Amino acid sequence: MIMNNRRSFLKTACKPIVLATLGIPLLEACSTDDDITSNANNSTTAASTPTEPLVIDISNDNFKDLKEVGGWLNYTEKNILLVRISEAEIRVFDNRCPHQGNRDRWSYDGSSFECGHHNNTYSDSCSGSLTCYDSNLDGNLLTVVF
Ligand code: FES
Repeated sequence: MIMNNRRSFLKTACKPIVLATLGIPLLEACSTDDDITSNANNSTTAASTPTEPLVIDISNDNFKDLKEVGGWLNYTEKNILLVRISEAEIRVFDNRCPHQGNRDRWSYDGSSFECGHHNNTYSDSCSGSLTCYDSNLDGNLLTVVF
């Protein structure tokens, strides 16, 4: 009789209650699909919030190093490396070294950056290890999209 009641209980009780009865804790036993969807939407929204583009007037004296092809600078205020690739293109990279994250001891040899902390080198192509940002040069205005 008791065995039949136990079987009947196991067949009819919801899974979380059965597991809890057996001593197996469940943390999300009472979640609904609506809760999960709501949380996922909040996370997606927060992660995809766009950052305002940065517009730099490279005719400003602070950017005079970018006037010639091959010129470059570490714009520490915005944590970016800028390099003049051609008359029409300035590439922009995050100045955070992929090795240990230092930002302050960069040099450039015309095709790659070298971090002076441990002398690792990184290509000036956007397919290398440095984080490359989209940029557009229109006259003297450089727009960087993060
Ligand atoms: S931190 Fe840049 S090479 Fe090590």
